[in-house]
Amino acid sequence: MTGLKHFSWQRLAQQAEGLLSVSSNRISNAANLSALLYQELEGVSWVGFYFFFDEALMVGPFQGKPACVRIEMGKGVCGTAATSGEIIRVADVELFDGHIVCDADARSEIVVPLFIQGELLGVLDIDSQHIDRFSEEDEAGLKALAQIYLSSIE
Ligand code: SME
Repeated sequence: MTGLKHFSWQRLAQQAEGLLSVSSNRISNAANLSALLYQELEGVSWVGFYFFFDEALMVGPFQGKPACVRIEMGKGVCGTAATSGEIIRVADVELFDGHIVCDADARSEIVVPLFIQGELLGVLDIDSQHIDRFSEEDEAGLKALAQIYLSSIE
């Protein structure tokens, strides 16, 4: 339909490939990927990275309101994803035991853990102000983008 922006994870992946190809710096690429996702995804309130540093997750480049600086491993959605190594998709953050509230408007969340050669690098975290914002397709799309990011910095 004319006038409507048609979202495609495949197109976003192509944009990310281009954007992240100019540098292999993990901070620079995290900053640009956060900005790209924040700009292109509808209904998201926070997009950003936490990096594993000094036994905890420390906030890295992000877009959105100021966030919690340090998240202990095993705590919150981010710390749980980092500890388990699995993507966590939370349809309703109020039902996730231990969810850490950074922004009272956040209603759903997805966290992708990032590993380089088996070593935890950090997590990519996206919040939405809508309940159940993230679908299985979003999970697959975001997983592919996380892989593009990891390949860009290796
Ligand atoms: N809600 C997250 C904390 C990080 S913020 O959403 C940016 C959590 O429970 O880990």
